[in-house]
Order: sequence, then C-alpha cells, then structure tokens
Amino acid sequence: MEARRILLIATSGIAAYKVPDLVRQLQRAGHEVRCALTPTASRFVSRLALQTLTGATVRQDLFDPSEEGEIDHIRLADWAELVIVAPATANTLAGMAHGLAENLVGAVLLATEAPVLAAPAMNVNMWNHPATQANLETLRGRGVRFVGPGVGELACGWEGQGRMSDPSEIVAEAGLLLGSQSLAGETVLVTAGGTAEPIDAVRTITNRSSGKMGFALAEEAARRGARVCLVAGLTALETPAGVKRLDVESALEMRNAVMQELPDATIVIKAAAVADFRPEFPEEAKIKKESLDSQEGITLKLVTNPDILAEVCAQKGDRTVVGFAAESGDVVPAALRKLERKGCDLLVANDISRDDAGFNVDTNAVYLLSRGGEVEEVPLLSKHEVARQILDRVEKMRSERSR
Ligand code: PMT
Repeated sequence: MEARRILLIATSGIAAYKVPDLVRQLQRAGHEVRCALTPTASRFVSRLALQTLTGATVRQDLFDPSEEGEIDHIRLADWAELVIVAPATANTLAGMAHGLAENLVGAVLLATEAPVLAAPAMNVNMWNHPATQANLETLRGRGVRFVGPGVGELACGWEGQGRMSDPSEIVAEAGLLLGSQSLAGETVLVTAGGTAEPIDAVRTITNRSSGKMGFALAEEAARRGARVCLVAGLTALETPAGVKRLDVESALEMRNAVMQELPDATIVIKAAAVADFRPEFPEEAKIKKESLDSQEGITLKLVTNPDILAEVCAQKGDRTVVGFAAESGDVVPAALRKLERKGCDLLVANDISRDDAGFNVDTNAVYLLSRGGEVEEVPLLSKHEVARQILDRVEKMRSERSR
C-alpha cells in the first residue's frame, strides 16, 4: 500500500501501553505516523517513547507556546490522511460525540477532514452504558469507523466487551479505510431484513431474515466510498458506519422508502426478504381469542404485495440493479427465470435449503447470474466476503458499461 500520513491519538486508558507497538506496525505497513495525546494519556504511555519511534514532536498541549507556533493543531489536523484514536476512552468518545474542543485532541478531531477510526477500550459496564452507546450511535452516523472492542478479561478485573483490538487488527482496518475508494461518487440503495405484515395490532406475518447479508453489503459499499442508504426491515443489527438508515416494517413501507430514495441511487441492491402477500384487512385492535369460534379458527385473506424489485427495474435508467433469489433446489434454473421476470442486471441466488447459507446465518454460498446468461459460483464464505464479491462484480459491470 502507498505510504499515507496517519495521526495516532492515544487517550488515557491502560490499553495505551500497546500504542508504541501500534506505531511500529503502522510504520511497517509503510505509513508515516505522528502522535498526539490527551492531557493525561502520558501517564500510560511515554511521550518520549512515541517521539523516539515517530521522530516527530508528540503534541499534547493546546496552550504550549513552543508547540503552537503557527496554530499547529490545525496544521496537524490538515496533515492527517487518517486519524486513529487508540485507545478511545468513554470520555474521549463522549467529547467527540458532543464536539468538545477542550484540549488539543478534541480540537484536532473537530478540525480534521480525514476519516476517523476509533478503537474503544474501557470497562464493560462503561461500554454498555446507554450514554456510551448513544455516543457511539451518533459518531457512527457521522461516519466515524470503529474497530473492536474485543471481549475478554479486562484490566479492571471484569470480563466482557471492552478490550482494545490488537494493533494488527487496527492496522488492517486502517488499511481498508485508506484503501480503494472505488465506489466514490456512487449512491447505493440497499434493502435488508424481513418485512412484517400486520394481521392485527400485535401479530404479524414475517420471515427469518436477519438482515446480515444486506447490512454487509451496505457496510462494504460505504467502505468503498459510496453514499449508502440502507432501507432496513426487521433486524437487530446496528447501522454500519457512515450509512444512512431508514427503518420500515411492512412491504408497503419498504416500497415507499425505496421509491423515495430511488431518484438519487445509481446502484440498487435488494437483499431484503419481502413478503409476497399481506393480510388484506389487518385489524386495528388485537383480535381477541374469545371473539372467534374456536372450532372454526380464523381465515386470513392475503393479497399480493407490490414487487419492489420489478418496479425499480421498470425505471432502471443508467442504474445497476441487483436482485436476490432465495431458492431451494434447482437453484440456477429457477433463479435464471427470476432474473428474466424481474429484469435486473445481476441476480444473487442463494440455496436456502442449506444450513450454512441464506437466512439467519453468518455465511452464504451464492451464484451470481447476469443478463447474458453468465453464471458464477461463489463458494461458502462469510457474508462480508460474499458482499465484497458482489460489489466487485457490480463495479466491473459499471466500468464495462461506461466504456
Ligand atoms: O437477511 P439474512 O438472514 O442475512 O438472509 C439473507 C437472505 C437469504 C434474506 C438474502 O440473501 C436473500 O436471498 N434475499 C432475498 C430473499 C427473497 O425474498 O427472495 P425472493 O426470491 O422471494 O425475491 C426475489 C427478489 O425480489 C429479492 O431481491 C427481493 O428483495 C425482491 N422482492 C420480492 C418480493 C417483493 N414483493 N418485492 C421485492 O422486491
């Protein structure tokens, strides 16, 4: 990888003892590194050690005349191509979420236009505290990327989530962030998760989609520099960094959200499991068991939902549209028929009869089917890796088209 300028900010946590190793690993990856510290971080990591390793002044004091010759904290913020905050304490994350510039690090983080990668480290209860979680959500929404924290034994004696990621993981994540911006300029609209079709005030018809496949696609597209809008049905997943999320429940709501976002989209990926049918007349209140004849049971009349993918394809224009197909048995022939019927550019077919692919698992095995009848088999991989392969294919199709 090309040498890049990385500003490494260490904050005041015990995990700061790993910072010299992180500096060395970033340097070994070819990067130029400078360091800055919060006012008390030097209690955990030596300023002199970092200065010796980087060969550059380690900045810590916003009001030190010798350090602030020419508004140097702004120069430092402008110099960085990537800012890494490691370890990132709960206090520093709170300051970042609220835009505090009470010390040099806060000022640099507000002033920089570089992407920011944070590696949190703290006590598990501090991590789980709603205030910390709300701050993380705010920061993710602004595009801050996170690596870790890992789960395990913590310096405070507790077990749980809160360990700073290993320097090697932070370096790998930095590499991804600094890597290809191959989807810069594109706007990717992704749907994910299952829909829930109301029967009454409390009951729905839904399916087993977890949203993992669609969220992996949204995350990877954002990582490649795209603007990403994620229309999410039922899912427990957290919003990937830098992704705009619209939550919906029913197929009709999903259709409306997709159509609202479609004008801006250059790439549409429909990984959601949309219910084909919905109860025609959902009850506004809860249907009471006593109101039913227990022998007769209940008959629901289902009506067809709009086919969102087909509707998007009907107004495709220059967009690249990717559909998914959940098939069991006879996967490729059934998916080829679906590709033809829906009219998308690429269809990702997964065999949902496998235990390790399709709904609600971390892995997938798919076939990529394109309009020309080309079929590529992608073996069993993590959904993140499958997402990468799908987006590689989308990029190839778009570059071929623009030639
Ligand atoms: O969410 P996970 O647990 O990670 O699982 C991933 C997945 C199995 C849900 C995903 O990989 C997948 O296959 N999604 C599509 C599931 C599906 O609904 O397939 P389908 O064959 O019924 O639909 C074909 C395509 O039409 C899909 O792109 C679907 O989003 C779209 N569709 C379907 C019905 C409808 N009314 N409108 C649509 O747009």
